[in-house]
Amino acid sequence: MSEVFARHAHPVPRLLRAEHPGWQVRADAIVIGSGIAGLTTALGLRASGSKVLLVTKAQVNEGSTRWAQGGIAAALAEDDSPAEHLQDTLVAGVGLCDTEAVRILVTQGPDAIRGLIARGAHFDTDASGGISLTREGGHLRDRIAHAGGDATGAEISRALVAAVAADAGIEVVENALVLDLLCDAHGAAQGVTLHVMDSGQRGGTGAALAPHVVLATGGFGQVYGQTTNPYVATGDGVALALRAGADVADLEFVQFHPTVMWLGPLAQGQQPLVSEAVRGEGAFLLDSRGARFMTDVHPLADLAPRDVVAKAIMQRMRATDEAHVWLDGRHLGADIWHQRFPTILESCRSRGIDPVTDLIPVAPAQHYASGGVRTDHWGRSSIRGLYACGEVACTGVHGANRLASNSLLEGLVFARRIAQVIAQDPQLPQDPLEHPSTTASGLLPHRARRTMQQAMDRDAGVLRSAVSLADAQRELHSTSHAEGAHPCTEDWETTNLHTLAVALVQHARLREETRGSHWREDYPDRVDQFWQVRLVSCLDADGQLLTRTEPVEYAKGP
Ligand code: SIN
Repeated sequence: MSEVFARHAHPVPRLLRAEHPGWQVRADAIVIGSGIAGLTTALGLRASGSKVLLVTKAQVNEGSTRWAQGGIAAALAEDDSPAEHLQDTLVAGVGLCDTEAVRILVTQGPDAIRGLIARGAHFDTDASGGISLTREGGHLRDRIAHAGGDATGAEISRALVAAVAADAGIEVVENALVLDLLCDAHGAAQGVTLHVMDSGQRGGTGAALAPHVVLATGGFGQVYGQTTNPYVATGDGVALALRAGADVADLEFVQFHPTVMWLGPLAQGQQPLVSEAVRGEGAFLLDSRGARFMTDVHPLADLAPRDVVAKAIMQRMRATDEAHVWLDGRHLGADIWHQRFPTILESCRSRGIDPVTDLIPVAPAQHYASGGVRTDHWGRSSIRGLYACGEVACTGVHGANRLASNSLLEGLVFARRIAQVIAQDPQLPQDPLEHPSTTASGLLPHRARRTMQQAMDRDAGVLRSAVSLADAQRELHSTSHAEGAHPCTEDWETTNLHTLAVALVQHARLREETRGSHWREDYPDRVDQFWQVRLVSCLDADGQLLTRTEPVEYAKGP
């Protein structure tokens, strides 16, 4: 581990709410989040008989998982192998993947998918009755399993939610925002504080206590004004972990999906995705003059890794002075659109675009956070008893750029591992809780959110430079003085988003190179050996962000 490399000048909050919790609930393990990672962890924990509390911010099926269109990647085809999946993942990650984490992902992936099918998920099949596989950017084989054509996440969510509902050992608490981690005198996790939007006995702020706390809260797309993430993606898990003193890593690697439907310059919030699988089936990009441009950029053309396509689109938009490019899928024909992409077809038609006869306007928008709470290969964070899984985590699987459809797989594989490791160590000693020695301060009002998002879109988006990132940092600093906050969900979420934005911009400023999804305009051609390291941050007792570099356990191939 290297020494502190940079210190951020302005503190962020160490606590969201200091008041004594009004109620308490106990379990053997608490899982926070109800996407593929949270649901799979909860179900896995039941194998060892644990009493599980599953906490979710909205309704149980409202996370990012149900929006996933393309699918879930795994070496399931006869002409494919985990070694080839590993190789494609390492190439996309541009030297920053943790090779052992990727090896775990690709070798345990096929079995994890079979486990999902055993839990009731139905994948699309081919004429021979086998799982139908397609291709997405950066994959050299057909290895993307899908369901309902382009409704893979919705089907996985349906099956797992049903399995959880059928298990009396899992108590689900909905409409509950997680606030802070509770620890004992030795710094081990002992539970969380929650705010439940309910007028019943368990309404308001309470404490959920358990020696194992699993964060599965998803991403932080709402840091940006335009994202494919749902409104619940406000980085609550990463911000909680930071406040508790845990390590976070790779925050500068934010993936922008190349083909998000362009709804005009004023569009805000969650934007409609047009899956990469549409290009996998043969659609291609055109500029405003009707010319294909990806064929000159990369041997895989429109199916190049996602960062390559997003950058090429941005460059073309600049060259032609247009706000978007076009996706041409007209030649796929009505049957393919109806069978393979019913969700996207409906989403386009509801906006007056018929992809069977029309071009679709598309532009890059925030899609996925490759970084998050730093974990080991068993999902353990740097705090004893605190685990992270899915988009909230940084297992090192994605490196500088996540390979398409590896995210559902990561949530699935590492959730199973977390359940396994907790089962081996079920009764961690529980010391009395430490009461916070600090007061809650620095809460930001909801109205600060838009200013922050505009700064992030403008200065820390697909394109970044030292100048733009310094502007973003200044804007975030002045936002941190916004007054009028109240202890309520919108203001807590805004505070979480701000904490994330501060850490992301600090990482992006420090990394003076272009690698994967981190594109520095002032270092456009540089992938620097010096930077083949991971940036890891944590907060000190005063709320200052300390960043250090760590070596990456990278090996080139199988
Ligand atoms: C897509 O369907 O293009 C998104 C898949 C992913 O993000 O992995």
